[in-house]
Amino acid sequence: MKYEAIIFDLDGVVVSTDNCHYEAWKQLADEEGIYFDRTINERLRGVSRMESLEIVLEKAEKSYTEDEKFQMAERKNGYYKELIKKLDKTAILEGAEEFITDAKSKGIKVAIGSSSKNTIAILTQIGLLETFDKIADGNDIKNSKPAPDVFLKAAEKLGIEPTKCVVVEDADAGVEAALAANMDVIAVGYASANPKCTYSAKGLFDIKVDDIM
Ligand code: BG6
Ligand code: MG
Repeated sequence: MKYEAIIFDLDGVVVSTDNCHYEAWKQLADEEGIYFDRTINERLRGVSRMESLEIVLEKAEKSYTEDEKFQMAERKNGYYKELIKKLDKTAILEGAEEFITDAKSKGIKVAIGSSSKNTIAILTQIGLLETFDKIADGNDIKNSKPAPDVFLKAAEKLGIEPTKCVVVEDADAGVEAALAANMDVIAVGYASANPKCTYSAKGLFDIKVDDIM
């Protein structure tokens, strides 16, 4: 086997949470009188919560103290946590479960490498918490994507060399992070047009484990 492990980004690869993030940021932005739309929301893909807030605040007419920013990020996360409570198996993206099952049946380890600090809650909601061998998320790292940290942490937890891992990502920041970790990367969805990726697919429904081994 070319790869001993596959590290999956969570949001936009395994589960559809785009709308929950959008609704939560939109509520915060509306309350603060800040313009926010789905095009700006696209820029938050793969980016940490605090860095996402900085992007949202580019449209703000006043400046905020660090303490106010922290409170705003907490407020957004409160709205987001309410929204993800409604997620169930139907939020799993097309082809994801089949791809993961196929990889595991071939003896390949599977892990999550996500910027989200809500990873455990989301995996629990969609019934996939026990599916992954290891989970590395926003709580394990200081520098988020495009820094390689979360993928290196996932490889370390698995005990597998980074060069033996392949990442699945839907964000350009995640593609950069995988390459910086010395890993190959399957770019799906929004990132599938990224010329730096190793493999490109519309989603996990559009690629088979055999295609990359
Ligand atoms: C990433 C999402 O997976 O997690 C980003 O693509 C999000 O949009 C980031 O900002 C952090 O998520 P959370 O759940 O910790 O606020
Ligand atoms: Mg993602």
